[in-house]
Amino acid sequence: MTTQQQRPSARQQPTQQHSIRSGFSALSTVDDVLDGVDLAGRTALVTGGYSGLGLEISRALSKAGAHVVVPARRPDAAKAALRGTDRVEVQALDLADQDSIRGFADRFLAARRTLDILINNAGVMACPETRVGPDGAWESHFAINHLGHFALVNRLYPALRPGTARVVSVASSGHFLSDIRWSDPHFREGYDRWLAYAQSKTANALFAVHLDSLSAAGNGVRAFAVHPGSILTPLQRHIPREEQIAQGWMSEDGTPARGFKTPAQGAATAVWAATSPLLDGHGGAYCQDCDVAEPATTDDMLIGGVKPWARDPESAARLWQLSAELTGLGPLA
Ligand SMILES: NC(=O)c1ccc[n+]([C@@H]2O[C@H](COP(=O)([O-])OP(=O)(O)OC[C@H]3O[C@@H](n4cnc5c(N)ncnc54)[C@H](OP(=O)(O)O)[C@@H]3O)[C@@H](O)[C@H]2O)c1
Repeated sequence: MTTQQQRPSARQQPTQQHSIRSGFSALSTVDDVLDGVDLAGRTALVTGGYSGLGLEISRALSKAGAHVVVPARRPDAAKAALRGTDRVEVQALDLADQDSIRGFADRFLAARRTLDILINNAGVMACPETRVGPDGAWESHFAINHLGHFALVNRLYPALRPGTARVVSVASSGHFLSDIRWSDPHFREGYDRWLAYAQSKTANALFAVHLDSLSAAGNGVRAFAVHPGSILTPLQRHIPREEQIAQGWMSEDGTPARGFKTPAQGAATAVWAATSPLLDGHGGAYCQDCDVAEPATTDDMLIGGVKPWARDPESAARLWQLSAELTGLGPLA
């Protein structure tokens, strides 16, 4: 990854960003965290729930009894991947297209459906420069990973079950590389694929901070951000294999590097954040390895933790304002 960084200033962090000694670890799997958990009668929505980590999340929630809605930009591929999974429904949605998000949410709300779990999991990483959104003005990582989920959650907010629903945003230790680029969030002054991914993942973390502060004071819905770990999935599709080997992510024969997780381990933290009663009272936390993460003390993304710019409440409020202006969405319903 590039070493060019947007250096954020030191800012005050909210409290609660320390391990709660959950009893789980980096090795815990989705089956471990859902052991004995009954989700019968609950409805979950998992964006990108048909590939990589999302597929593991969808299958695990379904196995625990939940009805799982999987919005997909490739519905046929989603149906094929989820064949044999019970209680799952695939619907068309492209997070790069605000009209598609509005249409999906309008249909969901018109059917008077209720959501217990919403996992913002879909994402793209290190893409070639791609422009989407109004007049092609939006950088694609920021638009898909952040603005798409921002709009989806805002529009589906009335469907979230008051008092108990949880919204989980799948962020990444990739956030280590960049704060929000306030002067140029859409990379009009030179594109860098890693900084674009990093900014979008900082945005995912800040989104959870501000959503939680708004809804904790309102309808009681709680929000969390998670780093899943490092896992070989189709996410790395834009990184040539030789580059992945050179980065130390895999050996010549494709074996994942030491410290990498299996998809079932990578999916565990999102599922834990969506369901664990241990997180009651910890809304807004950034989680990792099925526990609340510690503040990062190194720049080693494999060790992880959370950098201060991804937890800053003023930045979170400012990003919310910027995102509302860009998407034309008003206050939460
Ligand atoms: N894998 C890791 O090591 C790692 C580490 C840290 C964080 N994460 C995060 O984990 C999440 C899941 O990643 P993954 O590794 O499971 O990757 P993945 O297998 O590539 O899954 C990503 C999913 O997002 C969907 N998606 C992409 N663009 C979309 C759009 N415009 N509209 C709707 N859906 C879209 C993809 O759909 P298509 O298949 O149709 O393209 C795919 O289903 C991402 O947010 C990623 O940033 C992953």
